[in-house]
Amino acid sequence: MFMSDAPTEFALPDGVHPFPHRHLTGIAGLQPWEIGFLLDEAEQWIALNRNTSKHDSRLAGLTQINAFFENSTRTLLSFEIAGKRLGADVVNMHAAQSSVKKGETLIDTAVTLNAMRPDVIVIRHDSSGATGLIADKVDCPVLNAGDGRHEHPTQALLDALTIRRRVGRINGTVVVICGDVLHSRVARSNIILLGTLGAEVRVVAPPTLLPSAIERMGAIPYTDFDAALEGAEVVMMLRLQLERMDGAFVPSPREYHHFYGLTRERLGRAAPGALVMHPGPMNRGIEITSDIADDLQRSAITEQVEMGVAVRMACLDVLTRARRGVEGWA
Ligand code: CP
Repeated sequence: MFMSDAPTEFALPDGVHPFPHRHLTGIAGLQPWEIGFLLDEAEQWIALNRNTSKHDSRLAGLTQINAFFENSTRTLLSFEIAGKRLGADVVNMHAAQSSVKKGETLIDTAVTLNAMRPDVIVIRHDSSGATGLIADKVDCPVLNAGDGRHEHPTQALLDALTIRRRVGRINGTVVVICGDVLHSRVARSNIILLGTLGAEVRVVAPPTLLPSAIERMGAIPYTDFDAALEGAEVVMMLRLQLERMDGAFVPSPREYHHFYGLTRERLGRAAPGALVMHPGPMNRGIEITSDIADDLQRSAITEQVEMGVAVRMACLDVLTRARRGVEGWA
């Protein structure tokens, strides 16, 4: 029952449960086969999502609350679509229209949501660790949809699925992550996931946007983008997160683009056919030029969004199996 049609690069050891976790608050702490299991599970939903009829009923009767304390387009909509395609009753809580605006605390909000007996809660919050805090206070699985600078685990999973499908493997792949690494939960989750699955991860940024202990996470730091691109098979660009910057981290967007913007000329330094990725939303003309972002031969940006729905369906399915009494999961 734990087999999937798609081969994972890291086989499940004998007698080991494929995903023994109640929540998904981060990639940190996951075993390679657990990540591989979620990616394999997501493969089945790609096919369903390409059908005209996209309905599955395994979450029928379950209530999914998406509690978003920060803005989102891709993550919120794909979690909503994922839950609905699996048959769940999906409710969205936007902080701007909630009692958070009247001063209600995060914990009181969590306890209130929990009293409505949801079966799964998806949370985005601007504080690092907020998701873990809520996971300790509620009776159902919690999925982290991005918390501060900490983690964005489903983004890293959808990026890994995109790489695996386009490059054919993750183990041994040279991946360059360029941009605002300091403020990026996407970078953090990707560094952990890609390193766990055996990729070579290089991070590139101006010194002001590189965390000091990045080597301890297994990433190789660069400040010279051209040098980092040598032999790169995947180039993942990050958004300059101006909303998280409380000082002058870059002299100007124009100068940033000169040194760290991905142009066609600069992409020529990477391996032939290197894949271009960006989690979105993009600052066109700053971290990436439009001719690269919109080049469907090289850019996987829209494919990343498509994989996001499949990955979130897999996560919702797997995390609710115990509640649904699926054999081997209770
Ligand atoms: N990649 C990502 O998290 O995008 P949103 O902020 O639109 O959800």
